[in-house]
Amino acid sequence: MTTLGTPLSPHATKVMLLGSGELGKEVLIALQRLGVETIAVDRYDNAPGQQVAHHSRTITMSDPEQLKRLIEAERPHLVVPEIEAIATSMLEELEAAGVVRVIPTARAARLTMDREGIRVLAAETLGLPTSPYKFCNSLEELQAAIDAGIGYPCIVKPVMSSSGKGQSKIDGPGDVQKAWATAMAGGRVSHGRVIVEGFIDFDYEITQLTVRAVGADGQIETHFCDPIGHVQVSGDYVESWQPHAMHPAALEKSRQISKAVTDNLGQGFDGKPSGLGLFGVELFVKGEDVWFSEVSPRPHDTGLVTLCTQHQSEFELHARAILGLPVDTSLRNPGASAVIYGGVDAVGIVFDGVEEALRVPGTDLRLFGKPESFVKRRMGVALARAADVDTARTHAKLAASKVKTRKD
Ligand SMILES: Nc1ncnc2c1ncn2[C@@H]1O[C@H](COP(=O)(O)OP(=O)(O)OP(=O)(O)O)[C@@H](O)[C@H]1O
Ligand SMILES: [Mg+2]
Repeated sequence: MTTLGTPLSPHATKVMLLGSGELGKEVLIALQRLGVETIAVDRYDNAPGQQVAHHSRTITMSDPEQLKRLIEAERPHLVVPEIEAIATSMLEELEAAGVVRVIPTARAARLTMDREGIRVLAAETLGLPTSPYKFCNSLEELQAAIDAGIGYPCIVKPVMSSSGKGQSKIDGPGDVQKAWATAMAGGRVSHGRVIVEGFIDFDYEITQLTVRAVGADGQIETHFCDPIGHVQVSGDYVESWQPHAMHPAALEKSRQISKAVTDNLGQGFDGKPSGLGLFGVELFVKGEDVWFSEVSPRPHDTGLVTLCTQHQSEFELHARAILGLPVDTSLRNPGASAVIYGGVDAVGIVFDGVEEALRVPGTDLRLFGKPESFVKRRMGVALARAADVDTARTHAKLAASKVKTRKD
């Protein structure tokens, strides 16, 4: 049974977000609505989520000592990782010592923080279909892996990176050296390890949002949202929509894969089912075939669309599930999201055209409030609900295009 306290009182239910970007901000808002006391942590001041939380803390989350000190000082009931670059082995230590509960589990945070942990789990432990792959530590190993069976075309990614950083496609032998250099420059930690994956010529890709929540009988139940379709440019999401129409067999396989992965990631350090919360399972689909790509043990950027499509957005679902509350994953209406980029490198940018954007029927906006803009930084998102996905996509893109960013 869940009991919730009063924020800023001795009986507060305290939740700490590790990472307070646009996704964390929405989770924090959902928690605030349930009267949870929130602590927003990020690596820089005034991150989007820090602007809506009770408390803000700025630390280097990949530093185990800083992380430990903060958690021990704040003593939150739950620690909710929002990003991958966290000292996850320290989280495992603190969880095992009973100091804190990590969402969904510290083990899941560790396994998904680099591509190797999750890929080995999915393909080798769980036997799920994935692209053929190999891990390499040098340009020579990369070339050898391609020659020994991965073949062309293929994709090279640093094992530690997200949003397509350091990722490139290799079409032939002439591209290998450049792809290696790109991966070395784009990885989060420059330890020089990459994954090379055979290119999957999919028809489309989806995010299967999957929620582990406590049911009426106290057991953990798995719930699925309608599939989210999306477009990625250079490995970064630019547009998403829900629902994405799927062949029933492909949908069934997608859910089986998602269940297998989240069941496993939901196991705590003691092997018992524990992990609660929402996961974003990324899948490639061709006809009736489905490949597992990767999974976020937290809300997914393509799931921003659920702010305008579901009765409970992915952020509300996450907030409810982690608190042990019931969830409703049903769709309310079709909708779409389109990303608004910074367009300029500047601090404190100005957004023009917001009125015009919101005059597009059925639209809404989220401007994240990031203090600093970069040309390719995601600064906002346009949302559109409509009677069908095509109209929603058109309206979301139109609304996004009306918002113009500039230096003040
Ligand atoms: N093996 C592959 N075959 C075909 N396309 C791929 C493959 N791997 C990645 N992609 C394409 O690149 C996109 C980004 O890849 P991936 O999700 O692995 O990177 P990422 O850096 O983790 O991105 P994000 O953090 O945005 O999820 C995929 O959504 C897909 O469009
Ligand atoms: Mg991805």
